[in-house]
Amino acid sequence: MEITLHVQGVHNCEALVFFAFEKEGEMMPAFKTWLGEKGAWLAENPLLIGFSGRKKSVRYFFSPTGTESPMVILVGLGKRDVFMVRELRQAVAAAMGCAADLELKCLGLDVAVLADTGLEATLAVEEAICAVETAAYKFERLKTNDNGPKKNPTEFRLIAAAESEANLRGSMDKARAVGMGLRLTRDLVNMPSNLATPEYLATAARETAKRHDFGIEVLEADEIEALGMGAFAAVFQARREQARLIILDTHPDQGAESQSRTEAAEADKPLVVIGKGITFDTGGISLKPSQGMEEMKGDMAGAAAVIGFFEAYGQLKSRRRVVGIIPCTENLTGSRAIKPGEVVKTFSGKSVEIVNTDAEGRLLLCDVLSYAGKYDPHGIVDLATLTGAMVVALGPQIAGAFTPQKSLSALIREIGERVGEPCWPMPLWEGYQEELKSEVADLKNVGSREGGAIHAAMFLQRFVPKNTPWIHVDIAGPAYSKKKTDLGISGGTGFGVRTLLELVQEWPENFIDDGERS
Ligand code: BES
Ligand code: MN
Ligand code: ZN
Repeated sequence: MEITLHVQGVHNCEALVFFAFEKEGEMMPAFKTWLGEKGAWLAENPLLIGFSGRKKSVRYFFSPTGTESPMVILVGLGKRDVFMVRELRQAVAAAMGCAADLELKCLGLDVAVLADTGLEATLAVEEAICAVETAAYKFERLKTNDNGPKKNPTEFRLIAAAESEANLRGSMDKARAVGMGLRLTRDLVNMPSNLATPEYLATAARETAKRHDFGIEVLEADEIEALGMGAFAAVFQARREQARLIILDTHPDQGAESQSRTEAAEADKPLVVIGKGITFDTGGISLKPSQGMEEMKGDMAGAAAVIGFFEAYGQLKSRRRVVGIIPCTENLTGSRAIKPGEVVKTFSGKSVEIVNTDAEGRLLLCDVLSYAGKYDPHGIVDLATLTGAMVVALGPQIAGAFTPQKSLSALIREIGERVGEPCWPMPLWEGYQEELKSEVADLKNVGSREGGAIHAAMFLQRFVPKNTPWIHVDIAGPAYSKKKTDLGISGGTGFGVRTLLELVQEWPENFIDDGERS
């Protein structure tokens, strides 16, 4: 998909996209401007005048004679008072779908049309471009014939007045970067587990690191064991594919130096982002039911989002140091697999009784959470398809956010709303600490069924380095879509990439309000 900016002259699209809100009899100002003197055309098109503007409804027309673009695609935005980025995304997707039906190659959208929606200008441009990328996304590399579904347009032209060019270019660059990150994440999630192995994820991370001059380190199974990550090692002991621990660093040199320069070190403190990378989750000996198990190829969506985030972040030329820690393995069953009731020693030194081998994500994450302490991080974010209970609680579209820091909780909710990755605050409830008590070890890896997502988060919390702000995002619902949605194909959604991008740039400087650091 080629996305270009046209600031003057002939834009030559096959169709221009316009929007209309529901039950607002008048066409929007940008449409009237475009129509100019040719008002009579409107009167000759009763379907256009009578357009309901209902969400996702679409009409197309031939333009009045003498207009540059031969067609107009008109998309309903629904009611103005509930209009947000998600609705814009759906509208753009609907326009793309219509263009594909009509076998059009090139679509155009005037930024004045976006301005008419009332969304903040840069956000609207960014969103529209991401929406085009999202809607045009396909995963067909494993198909050998070319008779697949209809072809999407190949070109999208944003049309604008010359004076806004500089601003728009900035938004477009960011949106393109986000689009690349989203695509990479979705590809990694959609790739089946025989191909998207831990080493495959490491290769993807290496390529990203190379493109953007990031530091990268990939540890292998024996090195992970040697570090003392007994919980992580317990999960990969029945592997077929070799486990990997991927570590990305945007400022690897600073990291090395900062150990000797204590003063500068404060400024160099990174944010650590962690992603769960289970390339396939069978459940282990605590085997999952076979119905829908194929979706567990997506149990590395957290890892994929972190890699996609680094890809996008690298293109933004941002300053802040971020370290990515991505533990990857499959969770298999068999004669070498962990048996329920086994006790392992974690990197932190705490012992864990593995009561359920299907609660494996927290076993990888607990070790790397403690390991993150070595970077003396300014904060830690982890993204994980951690619990089915989270999906039961919030459904398939919303992620749950767990953090002791109120400011982080508010921030991630606000960001999620802004970028259309909804994220809702969930409690860490001291009263449930009982759930994790073990008769034989320091703690066990599961509590009761009720409140399972909270127990998982509280298990992780026990391994967060002291005095370190931390937020855990359970993306089990929104990371993967079982069905084709109005935004695109089924499978990986890329959820988390955009939230991470905003979060690392807006991470607060202090957490005094939470009383955590004192
Ligand atoms: N990867 C699953 C969680 C999951 C479920 C992700 C559905 C996406 C969709 C995780 O490893 C898991 O199996 N969790 C168990 C925990 C339980 C054994 C305490 C679960 O949720 O059933
Ligand atoms: Mn599991
Ligand atoms: Zn899992």
